[in-house]
Amino acid sequence: MLQRLDKAISNTGLLTRSQVKDALKAGRIQCDGVIVRDGARKVDPEAQAITLDGERIFSGSVILMLNKPAGFVTSTQDPRDRTVMELIPPRYRRRVAPVGRLDKETEGLLLFTDDGDLAHFLISPRHRVPKIYYARHEGEATAEDVAAFSQGLILKDGTVCLPAVLEPLGPGESRVTVCEGKYHQVRRMMASRGMPVTYLERQSESGLTLGNLPRGQVRLLSQAEEMVLRQGN
Ligand code: URA
Repeated sequence: MLQRLDKAISNTGLLTRSQVKDALKAGRIQCDGVIVRDGARKVDPEAQAITLDGERIFSGSVILMLNKPAGFVTSTQDPRDRTVMELIPPRYRRRVAPVGRLDKETEGLLLFTDDGDLAHFLISPRHRVPKIYYARHEGEATAEDVAAFSQGLILKDGTVCLPAVLEPLGPGESRVTVCEGKYHQVRRMMASRGMPVTYLERQSESGLTLGNLPRGQVRLLSQAEEMVLRQGN
């Protein structure tokens, strides 16, 4: 549906009407790759690529990346702890849900979306979406540990894990790549090999990385990142 560009943007709640005016004036808004300064221009937000500072404003769905700090639980409500939803800007808070979960003390990359199909795709072990973690731990990873991870560990309670990649980085430091998201997965895998984890950070999911996003901050994915994520979905 065609509508005025300035009105369409302010209707999202992303910017106020005067902020839209300023953004147009400053050349921060593009329509299909061309800077637009005329707020009265008629656009179709669903069909055209309208961006603010290079970030898509209107797309069918919202995908956010959080650099999660320790101390926040991954749930929408909690009687005791602060939740990751508190870190999501209010304008998105009621719309999106976390994609999978990170433990309260785990830091790093956590995605949020309102696209249920995408979330399901990313979470399902069937699709083997890789997640890369940096772990500090007790002990030192050996060649036998690397081999055990690559064969698929069987945890103490009988849980069978998919093959994973363990890369020793130095004494008490490893990178772990898993393609599923079982409860406390990395911590339990490392503990099963006598290397309890003392610090865990997710650095990457499905090829996306945190880049220079500061801890505790949230941003929308760029179009290029969204494409990476949707590949194969
Ligand atoms: N594995 C864990 O053990 N914890 C996390 O938060 C994520 C993966």
